[in-house]
Amino acid sequence: MENTQRSVTGKRLYSAVQPTNALTIGNYIGAIRNMVALQDEYDCTYAIANMHAITVRQQPAQLRANTLSVLALYLACGIDPAKCTLYVQSHVPCHAELAWVLNTFTYVGEMERMTQFKDKSAKHADNINMGLMDYPVLMAADILLYNADVVPVGIDQRQHLEICRDIAVRFNNIYSPTFVVPEGVYPKVGAKISDLLDPSKKMSKSSENAAGTVFMNDDRDAIIRKFRRAVTDSEGVVRYDPEAKPGISNLLSIYTAFTGRSIAQAEAEFAGKGYGDFKSAVAETVADCLAPVQAEQARLLSDKQYLNSVLEEGARRAYKVASATLAKVYRKIGFYQL
Ligand code: TRP
Repeated sequence: MENTQRSVTGKRLYSAVQPTNALTIGNYIGAIRNMVALQDEYDCTYAIANMHAITVRQQPAQLRANTLSVLALYLACGIDPAKCTLYVQSHVPCHAELAWVLNTFTYVGEMERMTQFKDKSAKHADNINMGLMDYPVLMAADILLYNADVVPVGIDQRQHLEICRDIAVRFNNIYSPTFVVPEGVYPKVGAKISDLLDPSKKMSKSSENAAGTVFMNDDRDAIIRKFRRAVTDSEGVVRYDPEAKPGISNLLSIYTAFTGRSIAQAEAEFAGKGYGDFKSAVAETVADCLAPVQAEQARLLSDKQYLNSVLEEGARRAYKVASATLAKVYRKIGFYQL
């Protein structure tokens, strides 16, 4: 596979996702679409973070299957292995190795204060393992290994990005400039897609009622059913007003994201029409957009040889960059080299 990687900005971008088969249209609009667009602007490295995933208990067969399923979905959405480096975290041993070194530059108190650690500890009280606490350090290792200038993440990852920057600066100050200190890039407000049944909440795979969440692998019937039940309001006008009309505004956000139309265009299109018509149109649009993606994902999943070849090439390319950074770190901290 030829690497035709060339970026407009010359800057390096790193991002990772955990392997799950429950990605939602919120993930698609907020993250995946963006990852596709960024490929032409930056030198992109995208990882499937299976080492982060095991910080909560996983079914081995599920974890294995989800790794390929996420890969196939990304490829189906337009992430192009000729333009970026796409790999599985555990295929590059440098992540665990650098995380160990960075552990000695990270304070226990800092990790105990992490919001996500506290939330997950409460949620998995029977399994507050060291990996859960160390999660941000592994994430820092991911980012710093690839000299990333920019890291696009959800707002929930901001604290982890900040600690990554702190660790990088700390190391650079003790030794000499070694790590690139990355910038976090966060989605613009409004890019957030809400639950269809409770628009005050973010659309999420872990929501208690799956009827409010549209998954990337939902079939047409499920999509239509879910949109039909979406909460609206009593005004009866398709108008964007997130404060007064959170349900309709959310549907407008989804509709414009999938059609590329502006809010004003969409409002004009549905002027004088009822909510029933509007919901059907949104549902049809989403179903029409997802159908080819789902078909391509299924086709790719039946071609395991191809998927493996993408991951082998990705791991090879990732290792080249990561091992060079790790060697530099080992030299600076005084590890005797042969
Ligand atoms: N923790 C991130 C999430 O759950 C995934 C992740 C792991 C990540 N390593 C990363 C994101 C490095 C950005 C950079 O969303």
